[in-house]
Amino acid sequence: MAELGVILLAAGQGTRMKSDLPKVLHPLGGKALFLHALQTARRLEPARVAIVIGHGASAVQQASPSVDVNWTIQERQLGTGHAVLCAKEAFANFSGEVLILSGDVPLIREQTLRAMIHHHRGRRAALTLLTAVLDDPKGYGRILRDNEGAISGIVEEKDATPSQRKTREVNAGIYVVSAPFLFSALSRVENNNQQGEYYLPDVVAIGLAQGQMIGTVTVEDPREMMGINSREELAAMEKHLRQSINQKWMQAGVTLKDPDTTYIDETATIGKDTVIGPNTQICGKTAIGARCRIDGSAFLTDAVVGDEVHLRFSVVMTGCRVERGAIIGPFAHLRPGTDLGANVHIGNFVETKEAKLGEGTKANHLTYLGDVTVGRDTNIGAGTITCNYDGFNKYKTSIGDRVQVGSDTTLVAPVALGDDVYIATASTVRHDIPGGALVYNPREERVREGWTEQKRRKMKGNKK
Ligand code: UD1
Ligand code: CA
Repeated sequence: MAELGVILLAAGQGTRMKSDLPKVLHPLGGKALFLHALQTARRLEPARVAIVIGHGASAVQQASPSVDVNWTIQERQLGTGHAVLCAKEAFANFSGEVLILSGDVPLIREQTLRAMIHHHRGRRAALTLLTAVLDDPKGYGRILRDNEGAISGIVEEKDATPSQRKTREVNAGIYVVSAPFLFSALSRVENNNQQGEYYLPDVVAIGLAQGQMIGTVTVEDPREMMGINSREELAAMEKHLRQSINQKWMQAGVTLKDPDTTYIDETATIGKDTVIGPNTQICGKTAIGARCRIDGSAFLTDAVVGDEVHLRFSVVMTGCRVERGAIIGPFAHLRPGTDLGANVHIGNFVETKEAKLGEGTKANHLTYLGDVTVGRDTNIGAGTITCNYDGFNKYKTSIGDRVQVGSDTTLVAPVALGDDVYIATASTVRHDIPGGALVYNPREERVREGWTEQKRRKMKGNKK
Protein backbone atom coordinates (compact mmCIF):
# COMPACT_ATOMS: atom_id res chain seq x y z
CA MET A 1 0.00 0.00 0.00
CA ALA A 2 1.17 3.52 -0.77
CA GLU A 3 2.80 5.46 2.02
CA LEU A 4 0.83 8.28 3.57
CA GLY A 5 2.18 11.76 4.19
CA VAL A 6 0.47 14.71 5.88
CA ILE A 7 0.74 18.41 5.12
CA LEU A 8 -0.92 20.70 7.63
CA LEU A 9 -1.41 24.31 6.57
CA ALA A 10 -0.83 26.71 9.43
CA ALA A 11 1.01 29.70 7.99
CA GLY A 12 -1.84 32.17 7.66
CA GLN A 13 -2.31 35.09 9.98
CA GLY A 14 -6.02 34.68 10.31
CA THR A 15 -6.79 38.30 9.45
CA ARG A 16 -10.45 37.89 10.33
CA MET A 17 -9.56 36.98 13.94
CA LYS A 18 -8.17 40.52 14.40
CA SER A 19 -5.57 39.11 16.76
CA ASP A 20 -1.87 39.47 17.51
CA LEU A 21 -1.85 35.73 18.12
CA PRO A 22 -1.59 33.53 15.01
CA LYS A 23 -5.00 32.03 14.35
CA VAL A 24 -3.89 28.42 14.75
CA LEU A 25 -2.69 29.18 18.30
CA HIS A 26 -6.07 30.33 19.57
CA PRO A 27 -7.14 27.70 22.08
CA LEU A 28 -10.10 25.47 21.37
CA GLY A 29 -11.20 22.98 24.00
CA GLY A 30 -8.05 23.78 25.96
CA LYS A 31 -5.50 23.27 23.19
CA ALA A 32 -4.15 25.20 20.24
CA LEU A 33 -6.45 25.11 17.24
CA PHE A 34 -4.03 23.39 14.83
CA LEU A 35 -3.23 20.58 17.26
CA HIS A 36 -6.74 19.17 16.82
CA ALA A 37 -6.28 18.31 13.13
CA LEU A 38 -2.65 17.32 13.73
CA GLN A 39 -3.54 14.81 16.42
CA THR A 40 -6.33 13.33 14.31
CA ALA A 41 -3.95 12.96 11.36
CA ARG A 42 -1.38 11.26 13.56
CA ARG A 43 -3.79 8.44 14.26
CA LEU A 44 -3.41 7.46 10.60
CA GLU A 45 0.27 6.81 11.38
CA PRO A 46 1.67 8.88 8.52
CA ALA A 47 5.22 8.22 7.34
CA ARG A 48 5.93 11.95 7.04
CA VAL A 49 4.34 15.05 8.50
CA ALA A 50 5.03 18.57 7.28
CA ILE A 51 3.53 21.63 8.94
CA VAL A 52 3.63 24.80 6.90
CA ILE A 53 4.17 27.77 9.18
CA GLY A 54 4.81 31.44 8.57
CA HIS A 55 2.86 33.82 10.71
CA GLY A 56 4.20 33.53 14.27
CA ALA A 57 6.27 30.53 13.09
CA SER A 58 8.34 30.03 16.22
CA ALA A 59 5.36 30.33 18.53
CA VAL A 60 3.49 27.73 16.49
CA GLN A 61 6.53 25.45 16.57
CA GLN A 62 6.77 25.75 20.34
CA ALA A 63 3.12 24.89 20.78
CA SER A 64 3.59 21.52 19.10
CA PRO A 65 4.76 18.72 21.34
CA SER A 66 5.73 16.52 18.41
CA VAL A 67 9.34 16.18 17.38
CA ASP A 68 9.14 14.23 14.13
CA VAL A 69 7.70 17.09 12.08
CA ASN A 70 9.15 18.72 8.97
CA TRP A 71 8.64 22.38 9.77
CA THR A 72 8.21 24.17 6.48
CA ILE A 73 8.47 27.92 6.44
CA GLN A 74 6.30 29.90 4.07
CA GLU A 75 7.87 33.34 4.22
CA ARG A 76 5.01 35.18 2.55
CA GLN A 77 1.46 33.93 2.58
CA LEU A 78 0.80 33.79 -1.15
CA GLY A 79 -2.07 31.33 -0.93
CA THR A 80 -2.87 27.74 -0.04
CA GLY A 81 -1.34 26.39 -3.26
CA HIS A 82 1.89 28.20 -2.59
CA ALA A 83 1.83 26.95 1.01
CA VAL A 84 1.66 23.31 -0.09
CA LEU A 85 4.35 23.87 -2.69
CA CYS A 86 6.64 25.05 0.12
CA ALA A 87 6.49 21.48 1.50
CA LYS A 88 7.77 20.02 -1.77
CA GLU A 89 11.27 19.40 -0.41
CA ALA A 90 9.93 17.57 2.61
CA PHE A 91 8.29 15.18 0.15
CA ALA A 92 11.21 14.67 -2.19
CA ASN A 93 11.40 10.99 -3.27
CA PHE A 94 7.94 10.41 -1.89
CA SER A 95 5.66 8.57 -4.29
CA GLY A 96 2.77 7.93 -1.89
CA GLU A 97 -0.33 9.94 -1.07
CA VAL A 98 -0.44 13.19 0.79
CA LEU A 99 -3.28 14.16 3.07
CA ILE A 100 -3.65 17.95 3.15
CA LEU A 101 -5.35 19.44 6.19
CA SER A 102 -6.01 22.98 7.35
CA GLY A 103 -4.88 24.04 10.77
CA ASP A 104 -8.15 25.91 11.17
CA VAL A 105 -10.45 22.92 10.58
CA PRO A 106 -10.30 21.19 13.96
CA LEU A 107 -13.18 18.73 14.16
CA ILE A 108 -12.36 16.54 11.21
CA ARG A 109 -12.72 12.89 12.25
CA GLU A 110 -10.28 10.05 11.69
CA GLN A 111 -13.11 7.98 10.25
CA THR A 112 -13.77 10.58 7.56
CA LEU A 113 -10.11 10.78 6.61
CA ARG A 114 -9.97 6.98 6.36
CA ALA A 115 -13.08 7.01 4.16
CA MET A 116 -11.39 9.54 1.86
CA ILE A 117 -8.25 7.42 1.57
CA HIS A 118 -10.33 4.31 0.91
CA HIS A 119 -12.34 6.10 -1.79
CA HIS A 120 -9.17 7.54 -3.31
CA ARG A 121 -7.46 4.17 -3.60
CA GLY A 122 -10.61 2.41 -4.82
CA ARG A 123 -11.02 4.89 -7.64
CA ARG A 124 -7.30 5.11 -8.39
CA ALA A 125 -7.82 8.86 -8.21
CA ALA A 126 -5.11 11.48 -8.59
CA LEU A 127 -6.90 13.63 -6.02
CA THR A 128 -9.85 13.14 -3.70
CA LEU A 129 -11.38 16.04 -1.85
CA LEU A 130 -13.88 16.41 0.91
CA THR A 131 -17.06 18.37 0.29
CA ALA A 132 -20.06 19.34 2.38
CA VAL A 133 -23.52 20.62 1.63
CA LEU A 134 -24.22 23.68 3.75
CA ASP A 135 -27.37 25.69 4.38
CA ASP A 136 -25.19 28.75 4.36
CA PRO A 137 -22.15 28.22 2.12
CA LYS A 138 -20.85 31.74 2.66
CA GLY A 139 -17.07 32.10 2.63
CA TYR A 140 -16.28 28.66 1.24
CA GLY A 141 -15.07 27.62 -2.19
CA ARG A 142 -17.96 26.19 -4.23
CA ILE A 143 -17.91 22.81 -5.95
CA LEU A 144 -18.83 22.97 -9.64
CA ARG A 145 -20.34 19.87 -11.24
CA ASP A 146 -21.26 19.01 -14.83
CA ASN A 147 -24.59 17.66 -16.03
CA GLU A 148 -23.61 14.13 -15.07
CA GLY A 149 -22.78 15.30 -11.56
CA ALA A 150 -19.02 14.88 -11.99
CA ILE A 151 -16.85 17.56 -10.42
CA SER A 152 -15.68 20.11 -12.96
CA GLY A 153 -13.85 22.57 -10.73
CA ILE A 154 -13.80 24.67 -7.57
CA VAL A 155 -14.42 28.38 -7.49
CA GLU A 156 -13.61 30.62 -4.53
CA GLU A 157 -16.45 32.78 -3.31
CA LYS A 158 -14.65 35.97 -4.28
CA ASP A 159 -14.24 34.72 -7.85
CA ALA A 160 -17.68 33.14 -8.20
CA THR A 161 -20.49 34.43 -10.35
CA PRO A 162 -23.80 35.11 -8.56
CA SER A 163 -25.22 31.84 -9.83
CA GLN A 164 -22.12 29.87 -8.77
CA ARG A 165 -22.50 31.39 -5.31
CA LYS A 166 -25.89 29.76 -5.00
CA THR A 167 -24.19 26.35 -4.98
CA ARG A 168 -24.49 24.87 -1.52
CA GLU A 169 -21.84 22.20 -1.99
CA VAL A 170 -18.51 23.51 -0.71
CA ASN A 171 -14.86 22.55 -0.58
CA ALA A 172 -13.87 21.44 2.93
CA GLY A 173 -10.20 22.20 2.19
CA ILE A 174 -9.14 18.60 2.93
CA TYR A 175 -7.54 16.55 0.19
CA VAL A 176 -5.91 13.18 -0.42
CA VAL A 177 -3.63 13.48 -3.39
CA SER A 178 -0.86 11.53 -5.07
CA ALA A 179 2.39 13.33 -4.28
CA PRO A 180 3.93 13.35 -7.79
CA PHE A 181 0.68 14.69 -9.28
CA LEU A 182 0.31 17.28 -6.50
CA PHE A 183 3.68 18.93 -6.90
CA SER A 184 3.67 18.86 -10.69
CA ALA A 185 0.17 20.38 -10.80
CA LEU A 186 1.05 23.02 -8.19
CA SER A 187 3.94 24.27 -10.29
CA ARG A 188 1.34 25.19 -12.91
CA VAL A 189 -1.10 27.02 -10.62
CA GLU A 190 -1.34 30.74 -11.33
CA ASN A 191 -2.54 33.65 -9.23
CA ASN A 192 -4.70 35.56 -11.67
CA ASN A 193 -7.75 35.69 -9.43
CA GLN A 194 -9.53 38.21 -7.19
CA GLN A 195 -7.17 37.66 -4.27
CA GLY A 196 -3.97 37.42 -6.31
CA GLU A 197 -3.24 34.14 -4.50
CA TYR A 198 -2.06 30.72 -5.59
CA TYR A 199 -5.11 28.58 -4.86
CA LEU A 200 -4.61 24.96 -3.92
CA PRO A 201 -8.09 24.03 -5.24
CA ASP A 202 -6.90 25.01 -8.74
CA VAL A 203 -5.05 21.67 -8.96
CA VAL A 204 -8.48 20.09 -9.44
CA ALA A 205 -9.03 21.85 -12.78
CA ILE A 206 -5.44 21.04 -13.81
CA GLY A 207 -6.01 17.35 -13.03
CA LEU A 208 -9.31 17.30 -14.93
CA ALA A 209 -7.68 18.92 -17.97
CA GLN A 210 -5.08 16.15 -17.89
CA GLY A 211 -7.81 13.52 -17.78
CA GLN A 212 -6.97 12.51 -14.22
CA MET A 213 -9.52 10.97 -11.91
CA ILE A 214 -10.76 13.43 -9.25
CA GLY A 215 -12.82 11.90 -6.46
CA THR A 216 -15.10 13.55 -3.93
CA VAL A 217 -16.38 12.40 -0.56
CA THR A 218 -19.18 14.33 1.13
CA VAL A 219 -19.34 14.62 4.93
CA GLU A 220 -22.62 13.78 6.59
CA ASP A 221 -22.30 16.19 9.48
CA PRO A 222 -20.97 19.44 8.06
CA ARG A 223 -19.86 20.58 11.50
CA GLU A 224 -16.77 18.41 11.21
CA MET A 225 -15.46 20.43 8.28
CA MET A 226 -16.22 23.86 9.69
CA GLY A 227 -13.27 26.21 9.44
CA ILE A 228 -12.55 28.85 12.05
CA ASN A 229 -12.03 32.28 10.60
CA SER A 230 -13.50 34.60 13.21
CA ARG A 231 -13.99 34.86 16.96
CA GLU A 232 -17.69 34.13 16.54
CA GLU A 233 -16.88 30.91 14.75
CA LEU A 234 -14.36 30.05 17.44
CA ALA A 235 -16.97 30.57 20.17
CA ALA A 236 -19.57 28.55 18.27
CA MET A 237 -17.14 25.68 17.82
CA GLU A 238 -16.03 25.85 21.44
CA LYS A 239 -19.65 25.44 22.40
CA HIS A 240 -20.17 22.56 20.01
CA LEU A 241 -17.04 20.83 21.26
CA ARG A 242 -18.05 21.39 24.86
CA GLN A 243 -21.46 19.90 24.22
CA SER A 244 -19.98 16.78 22.68
CA ILE A 245 -17.47 16.36 25.53
CA ASN A 246 -20.27 16.79 28.08
CA GLN A 247 -22.38 14.28 26.21
CA LYS A 248 -19.52 11.78 26.28
CA TRP A 249 -19.19 12.04 30.08
CA MET A 250 -22.93 11.85 30.66
CA GLN A 251 -23.02 8.71 28.52
CA ALA A 252 -20.17 7.35 30.65
CA GLY A 253 -22.23 7.78 33.83
CA VAL A 254 -21.39 11.26 35.08
CA THR A 255 -24.19 13.60 36.21
CA LEU A 256 -23.91 17.18 35.01
CA LYS A 257 -26.53 19.25 36.78
CA ASP A 258 -26.20 22.01 34.22
CA PRO A 259 -24.34 20.94 31.07
CA ASP A 260 -24.68 24.49 29.70
CA THR A 261 -22.31 25.81 32.34
CA THR A 262 -19.98 22.82 32.61
CA TYR A 263 -16.66 23.20 30.80
CA ILE A 264 -14.56 20.06 30.51
CA ASP A 265 -11.33 19.99 28.52
CA GLU A 266 -10.75 17.11 26.15
CA THR A 267 -7.75 16.05 28.23
CA ALA A 268 -9.69 15.65 31.50
CA THR A 269 -11.25 12.44 32.85
CA ILE A 270 -14.14 11.82 35.28
CA GLY A 271 -15.22 8.65 37.10
CA LYS A 272 -18.66 7.07 37.17
CA ASP A 273 -21.45 8.43 39.38
CA THR A 274 -19.65 11.67 40.01
CA VAL A 275 -22.11 14.55 40.26
CA ILE A 276 -21.02 17.93 38.96
CA GLY A 277 -22.83 21.16 39.79
CA PRO A 278 -23.12 24.32 37.70
CA ASN A 279 -20.33 26.72 36.71
CA THR A 280 -17.61 24.13 36.84
CA GLN A 281 -14.45 24.23 34.73
CA ILE A 282 -12.42 21.04 34.56
CA CYS A 283 -9.25 21.90 32.71
CA GLY A 284 -5.99 20.40 31.50
CA LYS A 285 -5.07 16.95 32.74
CA THR A 286 -7.52 16.95 35.61
CA ALA A 287 -8.59 13.43 36.60
CA ILE A 288 -11.61 13.11 38.88
CA GLY A 289 -12.49 9.81 40.55
CA ALA A 290 -15.78 7.99 40.89
CA ARG A 291 -18.68 9.03 43.17
CA CYS A 292 -17.29 12.52 43.75
CA ARG A 293 -19.52 15.52 44.42
CA ILE A 294 -18.67 18.91 43.01
CA ASP A 295 -21.22 21.39 44.35
CA GLY A 296 -20.49 24.13 41.82
CA SER A 297 -18.33 27.07 40.84
CA ALA A 298 -15.20 24.94 40.82
CA PHE A 299 -12.17 25.75 38.69
CA LEU A 300 -9.87 22.74 38.45
CA THR A 301 -6.66 22.62 36.44
CA ASP A 302 -4.36 19.59 36.37
CA ALA A 303 -5.91 18.30 39.57
CA VAL A 304 -5.94 14.59 40.43
CA VAL A 305 -8.93 13.84 42.65
CA GLY A 306 -9.58 10.41 44.21
CA ASP A 307 -12.92 8.66 44.60
CA GLU A 308 -15.68 10.03 46.82
CA VAL A 309 -14.12 13.42 47.23
CA HIS A 310 -16.53 16.26 47.98
CA LEU A 311 -15.66 19.63 46.55
CA ARG A 312 -18.04 22.02 48.22
CA PHE A 313 -19.12 25.27 46.61
CA SER A 314 -16.40 27.44 45.05
CA VAL A 315 -13.06 25.69 45.00
CA VAL A 316 -10.00 26.56 42.93
CA MET A 317 -7.48 23.75 42.49
CA THR A 318 -4.33 23.84 40.37
CA GLY A 319 -1.63 21.20 40.00
CA CYS A 320 -2.63 19.24 43.06
CA ARG A 321 -3.60 15.78 44.25
CA VAL A 322 -6.41 14.87 46.62
CA GLU A 323 -6.99 11.34 47.87
CA ARG A 324 -10.29 9.59 48.40
CA GLY A 325 -12.91 10.87 50.80
CA ALA A 326 -11.47 14.34 51.24
CA ILE A 327 -13.81 17.31 51.75
CA ILE A 328 -12.68 20.62 50.31
CA GLY A 329 -14.27 24.04 50.62
CA PRO A 330 -16.44 25.99 50.39
CA PHE A 331 -14.13 28.78 49.20
CA ALA A 332 -10.82 26.95 49.27
CA HIS A 333 -7.76 27.54 47.13
CA LEU A 334 -5.44 24.57 46.54
CA ARG A 335 -2.35 25.74 44.70
CA PRO A 336 0.38 23.73 42.94
CA GLY A 337 2.15 21.09 44.98
CA THR A 338 -0.80 20.46 47.27
CA ASP A 339 -1.03 16.77 48.10
CA LEU A 340 -3.84 15.77 50.43
CA GLY A 341 -4.26 12.29 51.96
CA ALA A 342 -7.49 10.39 52.33
CA ASN A 343 -10.29 12.05 54.30
CA VAL A 344 -8.49 15.34 54.72
CA HIS A 345 -10.80 18.28 55.40
CA ILE A 346 -9.98 21.69 54.00
CA GLY A 347 -12.57 24.27 54.97
CA ASN A 348 -13.51 27.81 54.04
CA PHE A 349 -10.89 30.41 53.25
CA VAL A 350 -8.00 27.99 53.43
CA GLU A 351 -5.12 28.30 50.99
CA THR A 352 -2.52 25.60 50.47
CA LYS A 353 0.65 25.55 48.37
CA GLU A 354 3.38 22.86 48.33
CA ALA A 355 1.49 21.34 51.21
CA LYS A 356 1.46 17.62 51.95
CA LEU A 357 -1.21 16.67 54.47
CA GLY A 358 -1.54 13.15 55.87
CA GLU A 359 -4.72 11.12 56.11
CA GLY A 360 -7.49 12.54 58.27
CA THR A 361 -5.82 15.89 58.90
CA LYS A 362 -8.10 18.92 59.10
CA ALA A 363 -7.65 22.62 58.41
CA ASN A 364 -11.17 23.90 58.51
CA HIS A 365 -11.01 27.68 58.69
CA LEU A 366 -9.05 30.72 57.50
CA THR A 367 -5.61 29.25 57.17
CA TYR A 368 -2.51 29.47 54.98
CA LEU A 369 -0.42 26.33 54.63
CA GLY A 370 2.60 26.84 52.37
CA ASP A 371 5.79 24.76 52.03
CA VAL A 372 4.62 22.41 54.70
CA THR A 373 4.40 18.71 55.50
CA VAL A 374 1.74 17.67 57.98
CA GLY A 375 1.29 14.15 59.37
CA ARG A 376 -1.98 12.34 59.89
CA ASP A 377 -4.92 13.17 62.14
CA THR A 378 -3.57 16.59 62.93
CA ASN A 379 -5.91 19.49 63.55
CA ILE A 380 -4.93 22.90 62.26
CA GLY A 381 -6.92 25.54 64.13
CA ALA A 382 -8.64 28.57 62.63
CA GLY A 383 -6.35 31.34 61.49
CA THR A 384 -3.14 29.30 61.45
CA ILE A 385 -0.45 30.76 59.22
CA THR A 386 2.78 29.18 58.07
CA CYS A 387 5.14 32.14 57.76
CA ASN A 388 7.19 30.63 54.96
CA TYR A 389 8.65 33.74 53.37
CA ASP A 390 10.92 36.40 54.87
CA GLY A 391 10.98 38.57 51.78
CA PHE A 392 14.05 36.77 50.42
CA ASN A 393 13.66 33.03 50.75
CA LYS A 394 11.01 30.39 51.30
CA TYR A 395 11.34 28.04 54.29
CA LYS A 396 9.71 24.78 55.22
CA THR A 397 7.49 23.81 58.08
CA SER A 398 6.93 20.25 59.23
CA ILE A 399 4.19 19.13 61.57
CA GLY A 400 3.86 15.60 62.94
CA ASP A 401 0.92 13.26 63.51
CA ARG A 402 -1.95 14.01 65.91
CA VAL A 403 -0.79 17.59 66.50
CA GLN A 404 -3.28 20.14 67.85
CA VAL A 405 -2.46 23.54 66.43
CA GLY A 406 -4.46 26.13 68.36
CA SER A 407 -6.35 28.92 66.64
CA ASP A 408 -4.38 31.99 65.58
CA THR A 409 -1.02 30.23 65.55
CA THR A 410 1.85 31.57 63.49
CA LEU A 411 4.52 29.05 62.56
CA VAL A 412 7.72 30.86 61.66
CA ALA A 413 9.58 28.66 59.19
CA PRO A 414 11.92 26.89 59.14
CA VAL A 415 10.30 25.06 62.01
CA ALA A 416 9.49 21.45 62.88
CA LEU A 417 6.87 20.16 65.29
CA GLY A 418 7.06 16.53 66.43
CA ASP A 419 4.15 14.13 66.83
CA ASP A 420 1.50 14.81 69.46
CA VAL A 421 2.57 18.40 69.97
CA TYR A 422 -0.06 20.71 71.48
CA ILE A 423 0.10 24.38 70.58
CA ALA A 424 -1.95 26.74 72.71
CA THR A 425 -4.04 29.31 70.93
CA ALA A 426 -2.43 32.55 69.73
CA SER A 427 1.11 31.17 69.83
CA THR A 428 4.00 32.21 67.66
CA VAL A 429 6.25 29.20 67.18
CA ARG A 430 9.85 30.01 66.23
CA HIS A 431 11.73 26.93 67.37
CA ASP A 432 11.50 23.21 66.75
CA ILE A 433 9.23 21.46 69.23
CA PRO A 434 9.88 17.90 70.40
CA GLY A 435 7.09 15.32 70.17
CA GLY A 436 4.45 15.39 72.90
CA ALA A 437 5.31 18.93 74.11
CA LEU A 438 3.00 21.82 74.86
CA VAL A 439 3.83 25.22 73.37
CA TYR A 440 2.43 28.49 74.67
CA ASN A 441 3.53 32.12 74.67
CA PRO A 442 3.00 33.36 78.21
CA ARG A 443 1.17 36.64 78.28
CA GLU A 444 -0.46 38.14 81.29
CA GLU A 445 -4.15 38.80 80.88
CA ARG A 446 -5.29 42.05 82.50
CA VAL A 447 -8.84 43.22 83.13
CA ARG A 448 -9.98 46.80 83.83
CA GLU A 449 -13.54 46.86 85.03
CA GLY A 450 -15.74 49.73 83.88
CA TRP A 451 -13.22 50.81 81.26
CA THR A 452 -15.65 51.04 78.33
CA GLU A 453 -18.03 53.34 80.13
CA GLN A 454 -15.15 55.65 81.15
CA LYS A 455 -13.88 55.77 77.61
CA ARG A 456 -17.27 56.64 76.15
CA ARG A 457 -17.79 59.46 78.60
CA LYS A 458 -14.39 60.86 77.82
CA MET A 459 -15.02 60.78 74.07
CA LYS A 460 -18.37 62.54 74.45
CA GLY A 461 -16.75 65.24 76.56
CA ASN A 462 -14.16 65.87 73.84
CA LYS A 463 -16.84 66.41 71.19
CA LYS A 464 -18.55 69.30 72.99
C1 UD1 B 1 -9.93 27.56 1.79
C2 UD1 B 1 -10.22 27.09 0.36
C3 UD1 B 1 -11.71 27.02 0.15
C4 UD1 B 1 -12.33 26.12 1.17
C5 UD1 B 1 -11.93 26.53 2.58
C6 UD1 B 1 -12.36 25.47 3.58
C7 UD1 B 1 -8.35 27.97 -0.95
C8 UD1 B 1 -7.91 29.00 -1.91
N1 UD1 B 1 -9.63 28.03 -0.55
O1 UD1 B 1 -10.45 28.88 1.93
O2 UD1 B 1 -11.98 26.52 -1.15
O3 UD1 B 1 -13.73 26.14 1.03
O4 UD1 B 1 -10.52 26.66 2.71
O5 UD1 B 1 -12.09 25.84 4.89
O6 UD1 B 1 -7.59 27.10 -0.59
N2 UD1 B 1 -2.66 29.13 4.64
C9 UD1 B 1 -1.29 29.09 4.57
N3 UD1 B 1 -0.64 29.91 3.71
C10 UD1 B 1 -1.29 30.76 2.89
C11 UD1 B 1 -2.70 30.81 2.95
C12 UD1 B 1 -3.36 29.98 3.83
O7 UD1 B 1 -0.66 28.33 5.30
O8 UD1 B 1 -0.61 31.45 2.11
C13 UD1 B 1 -3.36 28.24 5.57
C14 UD1 B 1 -4.14 28.99 6.62
O9 UD1 B 1 -3.33 29.20 7.77
C15 UD1 B 1 -5.28 28.04 6.91
C16 UD1 B 1 -5.47 27.28 5.60
O10 UD1 B 1 -4.29 27.48 4.86
O11 UD1 B 1 -4.94 27.10 7.92
C17 UD1 B 1 -6.68 27.78 4.83
O12 UD1 B 1 -6.48 29.14 4.50
P1 UD1 B 1 -7.67 30.20 4.57
O13 UD1 B 1 -7.14 31.52 4.18
O14 UD1 B 1 -8.38 30.08 5.85
O15 UD1 B 1 -8.60 29.65 3.37
P2 UD1 B 1 -10.12 29.87 3.17
O16 UD1 B 1 -10.37 31.25 2.70
O17 UD1 B 1 -10.85 29.44 4.38
CA1 CA C 1 -10.26 28.97 6.50
